[in-house]
This record gives sequence, structure tokens and C-alpha cells, in this order.
Amino acid sequence: MLQVFDLEKTYGSPTRSTPVLRGISFSLEAGAFCAVLGPSGSGKSTLMNIVGLLDQPSAGAVRLDGAIVDYAAAEETARVRNGDLGFVFQAFNLLPRLSAWENVALPLLYARTARPDRKPLALAMLEQVGLADRAEHRPAELSGGEQQRVAVARALIRRPKLVLADEPTGSLDSVTAAEVMALLRDLHRRLGVTILMVTHDRDLAGRCDRRIEMLDGRIVHDSAFA
Ligand SMILES: Nc1ncnc2c1ncn2[C@@H]1O[C@H](COP(=O)(O)OP(=O)(O)OP(=O)(O)O)[C@@H](O)[C@H]1O
Ligand SMILES: [Mg+2]
Repeated sequence: MLQVFDLEKTYGSPTRSTPVLRGISFSLEAGAFCAVLGPSGSGKSTLMNIVGLLDQPSAGAVRLDGAIVDYAAAEETARVRNGDLGFVFQAFNLLPRLSAWENVALPLLYARTARPDRKPLALAMLEQVGLADRAEHRPAELSGGEQQRVAVARALIRRPKLVLADEPTGSLDSVTAAEVMALLRDLHRRLGVTILMVTHDRDLAGRCDRRIEMLDGRIVHDSAFA
């Protein structure tokens, strides 16, 4: 499903360069739920952004669903990003002026799904995350946990092949974090979606099938090879 080959990322100019990823390789089979752990600055978000086609590597390659990603092909990467990938961020990133269902329906708008089809699909997805009764609420009228559940519904509405979650529970208290984690696990099981999730929380990581630990731009431990 996902293969990462000797990925390197260096920021800055040739004279003052900062290596952030120093040869990352791993592969993720379809249906996996894998945690990425590591201290602040170890390169976790940089890795997620490259795998999510939001940023380009300095060296190395990524293969998604059989095809090597051509980072220079902007239209193609945009198509893959919108169709095959789903994103969940720490800060929820919901649009404040749209209702919950309208936020969930946004990827359908980008996919040019016919207008009358969007609302019922979004409502069905909100039902899956237990928020059918909050469909007309705006983000400011929802709790943090509810906002993140809306964001999870938005990430999953097009049934992406791979969901990338960068500290999805990082803004939530521990009880709400555990609820969002339980939701992700439930959706992972029911929908068979592949998930790569950055977390600082060892308890939450312990509930994933696999843990990859990063330090200084390298993988220092991978539970798949423990
Ligand atoms: N655009 C950029 N230009 C220069 N350096 C950057 C840039 N983005 C990130 N970095 C540096 O790359 C390193 C890794 O950053 P990254 O955001 O991937 O870390 P992280 O593991 O996600 O950390 P955190 O747990 O705090 O989110 C950091 O030292 C950061 O300062
Ligand atoms: Mg980060």
C-alpha cells in the first residue's frame, strides 16, 4: 500500500542546510494501523507531509498503491491527495463558517459530486462518527472532541486508501483523546482503512498494530521487526 525508500529531506540553502530526514525506509501493508512516535523535531510531521504529497523529498522515493509518486506532477499529486488520501490534523482545520455536514462534504465538492448527493453522504458519514444530531452546528458550537470527529468524518468520506493523522488527539484532554482514538480504531476495523498516525501518547500508540519510532530523522525502532 505504502512504501518509503531511503527518504531524505534537507531544509535551507546548500551552504546552511539542515537535514531533517536522513534515510527513512519502511512499508505499510493495506489495512495497517501504525503509530509514529518520536521527540519534538525528530521529523515526524516532515515525513507525514511528504507521504501526504504536501511536501517534496530531497532524495528517496515513495510508492503509493503501486505507483512511484512523481512529486513534480502537480495535477497528479493533487488528484491522489484529494482522492486516495485523508488527513486529520491536531488543530482540526475545520472551516468556521460551514456547518458540520458542510465541512464533511467538502471533499465531495472538490470531487465534483453532484450537489443533491453531498448532504445525504455527509449525514451518513456523520452518523458513523456518532454526530448525526450535530449536523447543522458550526465548529464553534462543538466541543474539541466533536470537532475532531467531524474532521475524521471529512477525512473518510471519500473512503481514502490511506489516512494520515498528525497528532489527532494532541489538542484533546486524555478522556476525549481516548474517545477519538476508539473512534479511529472502530472505523479502521469497520471500513478497513489504512492509518498512519503520529502521536506523543504511548498509551494510544500501544493500541495500534505497529509502532515506528523516530529520532533525529531516522527510524530507531519498528515494532514490525522487534
Ligand atoms: N520549513 C522548514 N524550514 C526549515 N526547517 C524546518 C522546516 N520545517 C521543519 N523544519 C525543521 O525540521 C525539524 C523536524 O520538524 P518536524 O515538524 O518534522 O518535527 P516533528 O517530529 O513533527 O516535531 P513535533 O513533535 O514538535 O511536531 C525541526 O527541527 C524543524 O525545525
Ligand atoms: Mg509535528
